[in-house]
Amino acid sequence: MLVPLKQAAEVETVLQRRVAVVGSSVLLVGPLNITHIHSVQWEHLNGTTFHTILEYERHNLTVHVPYIARVHLHASNGSLLLEDLRESDTGIYRVTVNREERESLMISLDVLKPVSHPQLWSSGLVAKASGEVLCEVAEGRADTFTWKKDGQMLPPDRSYRLSGSISVLYLRMAKKSDCGSYSCNASNGISWQETSLNITVAGDH
Ligand SMILES: *[C@@H]1O[C@H](CO)[C@@H](O)[C@H](O)[C@H]1NC(C)=O
Ligand SMILES: *[C@@H]1O[C@H](CO)[C@@H](O)[C@H](O)[C@H]1NC(C)=O
Ligand SMILES: *[C@@H]1O[C@H](CO)[C@@H](O)[C@H](O)[C@H]1NC(C)=O
Ligand SMILES: *[C@@H]1O[C@H](CO)[C@@H](O)[C@H](O)[C@H]1NC(C)=O
Ligand SMILES: *[C@@H]1O[C@H](CO)[C@@H](O)[C@H](O)[C@H]1NC(C)=O
Ligand SMILES: *[C@@H]1O[C@H](CO)[C@@H](O)[C@H](O)[C@H]1NC(C)=O
Repeated sequence: MLVPLKQAAEVETVLQRRVAVVGSSVLLVGPLNITHIHSVQWEHLNGTTFHTILEYERHNLTVHVPYIARVHLHASNGSLLLEDLRESDTGIYRVTVNREERESLMISLDVLKPVSHPQLWSSGLVAKASGEVLCEVAEGRADTFTWKKDGQMLPPDRSYRLSGSISVLYLRMAKKSDCGSYSCNASNGISWQETSLNITVAGDH
């Protein structure tokens, strides 16, 4: 969603950022300083085009088909309640109030699944050889991984992102002092999960 965000930002500033859990509801708030609302239009930018969600004008409300069962407009203030959120609802929302006065506002929404418990495993760690500890999240998009050893935070440059769902902690020359309890904390805007694993290095004396 980086490209449409950028394109949208060139046109108007994204003023609000919201995150929500799949299956929940979110109230997207329209412009606050308008006292009399004649018309409201809500649109969703997915990909590169705006799709109209609904239009309201002189008490005439038209809701577009994919949204019929999931949206509710508060006509008094232009706010939109979007229910039963899906990951595909992620994107930029634009509300235009009183078309002729061109009052519009952009809101970015990120709909996320909670991250599942990370799985942790190591490549068989042998003394004086390089090795890795891997952390994988099966469900939910993890934005951040942090690592701890024996409860102490490890610097971010000790690990790297192998893919969207896997973080790798690199051990250059495994040694006795690398033995211990490793924890991986995977998180996104709505959730985090941490898993620990005891690790031993073979063949060190
Ligand atoms: C409402 O606020 C916006 C942004 O602060 C401003 O551009 C607009 O002129 C205001 N509209 C009214 C009717 O005061
Ligand atoms: C945009 O939304 C339409 C309908 O809401 C959907 O069919 C389409 O797959 C979406 N496109 C992207 C790129 O998400
Ligand atoms: C309500 O809006 C729809 C779509 O914009 C339009 O086709 C219809 O004629 C309108 N109805 C009234 C009563 O204004
Ligand atoms: C808009 O109106 C609805 C229903 O009256 C209310 O629940 C909501 O809090 C209002 N939002 C704002 C921003 O005033
Ligand atoms: C895991 O990371 C999240 C997000 O940074 C943080 O809020 C949470 O406290 C961390 N959990 C632990 C046990 O450190
Ligand atoms: C790791 O080892 C310690 C001490 O032997 C033990 O208390 C702890 O439960 C172990 N943790 C795991 C995740 O196996």
